[in-house]
Amino acid sequence: MANVTLKDVYKSFGKNEVIHGINCEIKAGEFVAILGPSGCGKSTALRMIAGLEVITKGEISIDGKIVNELEPADRDIAMVFQNYALYPHMTVFKNMAYGLKIRKMPKDEIKKRVHNAAEILELTEFLDRKPRQLSGGQRQRVAMGRCIVREPKVFLFDEPLSNLDAKLRVQMRLELRNLHENLGITSVYVTHDQVEAMTLGDRLIILEDGHVQQIGSPLEVYERPATQFVAGFIGSPAMNFFDAQLSNNGLAVELPGSDTLPLSNSGLPDFGGQKVNLGIRPEHFKLTDEGAGTMRIKVDHVETLGADTLVHGHVGENGTFLTIRLPDIHHITKGTILPLAVPSEKLHLFDKESENRIGD
Ligand SMILES: Nc1ncnc2c1ncn2[C@@H]1O[C@H](COP(=O)(O)OP(=O)(O)OP(=O)(O)O)[C@@H](O)[C@H]1O
Ligand SMILES: [Mg+2]
Repeated sequence: MANVTLKDVYKSFGKNEVIHGINCEIKAGEFVAILGPSGCGKSTALRMIAGLEVITKGEISIDGKIVNELEPADRDIAMVFQNYALYPHMTVFKNMAYGLKIRKMPKDEIKKRVHNAAEILELTEFLDRKPRQLSGGQRQRVAMGRCIVREPKVFLFDEPLSNLDAKLRVQMRLELRNLHENLGITSVYVTHDQVEAMTLGDRLIILEDGHVQQIGSPLEVYERPATQFVAGFIGSPAMNFFDAQLSNNGLAVELPGSDTLPLSNSGLPDFGGQKVNLGIRPEHFKLTDEGAGTMRIKVDHVETLGADTLVHGHVGENGTFLTIRLPDIHHITKGTILPLAVPSEKLHLFDKESENRIGD
């Protein structure tokens, strides 16, 4: 178990800078997920920790020791990839033992470690099988086993579940979290799947285009997204955004078409008149009676999903489109005008220029 620290880490490929200064401290035993859209630099960040990419600038330390110059093999890390490439001609046992054998570990110790890992991963009965005689999930577990037997200080995962079908992914996600709770090995997990990141990670590092947008626990990034990018990226269906204007010295926010929503004003400076972007999550609208502080949406389309109902509509004549999510089943017809309330603490405000969060 070791901590991993990245200090002002930059990476360029030729003239093209793709990581623009990452700073983060991953605590010993922590499970951190790096989350972001395709091409934002997740794999590059992970490969720099692994030593598979040379960093252009900055410092990476593992267990308090700067590893910039260390070869991957000397960093005491183990990495699981999306394509886990087991040796097809070797049994599960041999696949798991291979890395230790080339390190010339004594046979007894190899046997002990493989059996131990197989037990943890419930692979004991498959040790004599070849990979082609296993299911996708079992193969992925063998790949995990190969890493566990090394007893590394740090686990690095690059989208290890993305080749599995949806159901197996959910199952493996739970297994991974259990495994982490049992072994307690510091883990860095790269994914573009927000549910995977939110359920696995103690903390998330959210990357956009090589910039860190926010580092925080799953609830922190959901409840207090630091930027409009994070707000729109975390949560499904995605947060709705509106052009709005602060009024009453920051005590209310006005939507075009004259709906006015009261604000709790916590942490808001005197912002009277400022134009802002207002964000509201689909699940934070409540059906209400006509009255003060409500929004009215005109319904365009309804999706009844059983557990909840998604209502797509717009505010004002030809106004902003939005999606709301109501628990349970609702029969709502197209064209209905729905009065809605949103608790003031569920309103998110973002600066129009910087797109940074305004207020608490
Ligand atoms: N070896 C390389 N040479 C040049 N450019 C590279 C190289 N590897 C990655 N890049 C570029 O760096 C950027 C980040 O790539 P990276 O693979 O880290 O993204 P990612 O977040 O892992 O994406 P994905 O979710 O699609 O795997 C991309 O623009 C990519 O084209
Ligand atoms: Mg990648």
